[in-house]
Amino acid sequence: MMPKDDDRRSCPHLPELVSEGDIRKRVGDLAAAIARDHAGGEPLLIVAVMKGALVFLADLIRRLPMPLEIELVSARSYRGAHRQPQVEILDDVGSLQIAGRHVLLLDCVLDSGHTLTALREEITARGPAALKTCVLLSKVRPREVAIEPDYVGLEIPDVFVVGYGLDHGNRWRHLPYVAELPKACTSGEDGR
Ligand code: IMP
Ligand code: MG
Repeated sequence: MMPKDDDRRSCPHLPELVSEGDIRKRVGDLAAAIARDHAGGEPLLIVAVMKGALVFLADLIRRLPMPLEIELVSARSYRGAHRQPQVEILDDVGSLQIAGRHVLLLDCVLDSGHTLTALREEITARGPAALKTCVLLSKVRPREVAIEPDYVGLEIPDVFVVGYGLDHGNRWRHLPYVAELPKACTSGEDGR
């Protein structure tokens, strides 16, 4: 949805939830843990969920010392008629060379769990040698599907956040920090 000019005027600055410094520290911690677990020399195939994980991906890979490759998959989650999130995977995961690979599935935020679960199933079906999951942010809330990522950067409250790649209506991705998006700035829409 195109932003309204009114939104732009009424939301000049959003309250910071996770600072740039805290993000940098936790990305470094995640990179160290991932490097430790993948010290065997096998190149890592990182599959990142677009568009939300794009900034996280760019920062994380520059902290990883081992050989790696990147693939991008676009996913969109939306509320269906029964308000149950539906996940639409917009790329053909079957076209990725996954069989026998050591794969790390990367997303910026874990909310209901549907997106990561759907992609994990798609990748698992293609026979990777190993598959791990990593999220920078995990909302503290009951999951609608049970999934525990192997790597979690930070737990955050169950609020709608933007920045550091995350959007509402494709806006706010450029913020260098993570901010809570006040209800007043959402035009009442669930922007996921
Ligand atoms: P889940 O499928 O409910 O776990 O949600 C994960 C996906 O929804 C992420 O890949 C994001 O694109 C989006 N999402 C969930 N919560 C937020 C949020 O607070 N801000 C922006 N995007 C979100
Ligand atoms: Mg979004």
